[in-house]
Amino acid sequence: METVKGVVLAGGLGTRLHPLTSITNKHLLPVWNKPMIYYPIKTLVDAGVKDVMIVTGGNNAGDFLRLLGDGKELGLKHIEYAYQKGEGGIADALRLAEDFIDGNKSVIVLGDNIIEKPIKRFVDKFRRQDSGARILIKKVPDPKRFGVVEFDKSKKRIIKIAEKPKKPKTHYAVTGIYMYDSRVFDIVKKLKPSNRGELEITDVNNAYIKHGQMEYDILSGFWTDSGTFESLLRANNLAANRLSS
Ligand code: G1P
Repeated sequence: METVKGVVLAGGLGTRLHPLTSITNKHLLPVWNKPMIYYPIKTLVDAGVKDVMIVTGGNNAGDFLRLLGDGKELGLKHIEYAYQKGEGGIADALRLAEDFIDGNKSVIVLGDNIIEKPIKRFVDKFRRQDSGARILIKKVPDPKRFGVVEFDKSKKRIIKIAEKPKKPKTHYAVTGIYMYDSRVFDIVKKLKPSNRGELEITDVNNAYIKHGQMEYDILSGFWTDSGTFESLLRANNLAANRLSS
């Protein structure tokens, strides 16, 4: 089977969660009975992706090594760590994984995204996909907080993604789970910083869309990020009530 490697993005300053994040990294905060980062790692392991890089940054990078070690306890075969300087954005963090991905396909998971149901069948579809990208989307009540997709008339193809639009065209948000072929690194190198000064993952996705190379699936079960007080509370409640172990 084709090699697919995983990347968990766990950098950033977590400013929306101050003061919780003034002495630690957001992804080490508790979500019910585990540190937040355990959830995205499990998402990858359950999908059969066990060769994973953790990209982190800030003052607490060493804590990830203390917590995760060689990754075996969490079911990983191989773990690597990379250090992101500053707040360059999701696409900037991804750049650090180029040598690790080494020309293979990759599944990228944002370290604060927590889901209920396995994504293995979507990752398997991506393994069979010749080239291009695949994203997972989800209907949400508050699309303005996310990347929002726009479909063609047949609803078969995504024609555009708008990052946190004031007037969302649909209620479908782009979740923080992205699958890319190795061309992603050429795309990332050509990106320009957005208004918030970051390299946006939405720009990467729009580049694939422009080339007619973006597929998607609709995620089943719950999905939440956990980067604000409200969403962190929701993540805790969902994990406690709906995730068994
Ligand atoms: C990021 C992406 C956004 C996506 C979201 C999913 O937003 O930019 O497109 O919908 O993750 O969690 P951020 O949390 O960095 O504001």
